[in-house]
Amino acid sequence: MSGGARREMNLGVFVETTGRHLASWRHQQVNPLAPLDFGHYRRVMEIAERGLFDLFFLADGLAIRDRSAERLGRGPKAHFEPLTLLSALSMASRHIGLIATASTTFNQPFHIARKFASLDFLSGGRAGWNIVTSSSDAEAENFGADPIPAARERYRRAAEFVEVVRGLWDSWDDDAIVADPASGVYFRPDGLHALNHRGEFFAVRGPLNIARPPQGHPLLVQAGSSVAGMALGASVGEVIYTAQTTLADARSFYRQLKEQAQAAGRSPDAMRILPGLFPVVGRTRDEAREKFDYLQSLIHPDVGLAQLEHHLGGVDLSGYPLDGPLPELPQAGDNPTSRIALLQHVARRDNLTIRDLYLQVAIARGHPVLIGTATDIADMMTAWFQEGGADGFNIMPGWLPGGLADFVDLVVPELQRRGVFRRRYQGATTRDIMGLARPAGRYAAPVNHRLTAGE
Ligand SMILES: Cc1cc2nc3c(=O)[nH]c(=O)nc-3n(C[C@H](O)[C@H](O)[C@H](O)COP(=O)(O)O)c2cc1C
Repeated sequence: MSGGARREMNLGVFVETTGRHLASWRHQQVNPLAPLDFGHYRRVMEIAERGLFDLFFLADGLAIRDRSAERLGRGPKAHFEPLTLLSALSMASRHIGLIATASTTFNQPFHIARKFASLDFLSGGRAGWNIVTSSSDAEAENFGADPIPAARERYRRAAEFVEVVRGLWDSWDDDAIVADPASGVYFRPDGLHALNHRGEFFAVRGPLNIARPPQGHPLLVQAGSSVAGMALGASVGEVIYTAQTTLADARSFYRQLKEQAQAAGRSPDAMRILPGLFPVVGRTRDEAREKFDYLQSLIHPDVGLAQLEHHLGGVDLSGYPLDGPLPELPQAGDNPTSRIALLQHVARRDNLTIRDLYLQVAIARGHPVLIGTATDIADMMTAWFQEGGADGFNIMPGWLPGGLADFVDLVVPELQRRGVFRRRYQGATTRDIMGLARPAGRYAAPVNHRLTAGE
């Protein structure tokens, strides 16, 4: 909630190089070399701030995770490391929260605490960390650990990792640094605390060699959907990303996670749940549909086919005509799931060709795609926001920067007219702007954990 008693949405933008759509890099308004062009991200950032967005989010992985031979070379895979890019972007923005993804499986807590604290200082209190555990063997193979550890172990490590990072952020009391040339005292030694952590995965003495961040703790963002993932989100997540396709599902996820957070002793308002939304906005529905059809026409058949084969459990469809029907599948490999059965059923029922089906599969990727006017899109967003499905949205523009500019120019004013979104930024840090409390340092209470002499 931000500014006064009225509840307002939080909006983030999910910045995926050239856009969410698989073929965005081929869009006539997109610079195909944008993934490594700083000016591109600066333009996206400016548009997001013009739209008064809360968050600018960069996802990340520690490998080229897609190993499909058919798709290889058919989309951008070379891009910036998020913390580095956000450090540069912090100089080109003033209000928006800067969220970088970093893995708890292939990092050490000391590095992560230090880097996010640095970004928080550079940006004047606008850093956030999307906590992920990484899930692919492709990533594990870059760190000498093959295969990837089991999810349960990764989440156990993640919980301890986050605890250590939070402890390190508290190394310095907020007022420890006095920097007083007259007395010759730079900082109060009793305001500096060693963590002395010893756990299952980490042994970290501390303290951190950077002062307490402007936000106390940079914002903690999380997107787990398994039982272990949701447990971590409920215990530490302040912003939650999630993929929900219906209001009913969104409500059930929202209710469950807020209840879990409460059970963990947190206020439900201290956690903002932002489902993803891929909007295609037009001044008319026809115009929106045209924009969407144009994007779809750019999907290379090899890419579409590989996507469909993946969704069908790894079958090989290369011998079949694209404009012919889906063949009978021999239970789609040895891993039949309800999704495979559903796709086969839909193809038969609606008389879809292989091409029709891959076009359907390629767009969704778990998040709702909404094609329509500003009113259509604001209707859906307002309903989810007011009926217990969302505290806001993680907007995934189909192509960048154009898809975001459409949203900012058309949908944002509509949300403002309805009184569900801010008309100006209020506050300096991301926590201030989002109405999330700044955590007190853990040593702020009377107990003093002094450093040993000589430190
Ligand atoms: C909007 C969104 C963004 C995500 N970004 C990343 C990311 O950048 N890197 C990553 O490895 N996983 C990312 N994930 C995956 C989640 O961290 C998580 O692993 C996934 O939702 C599955 O949940 P689970 O880990 O509990 O099984 C993202 C998920 C969502 C919904």
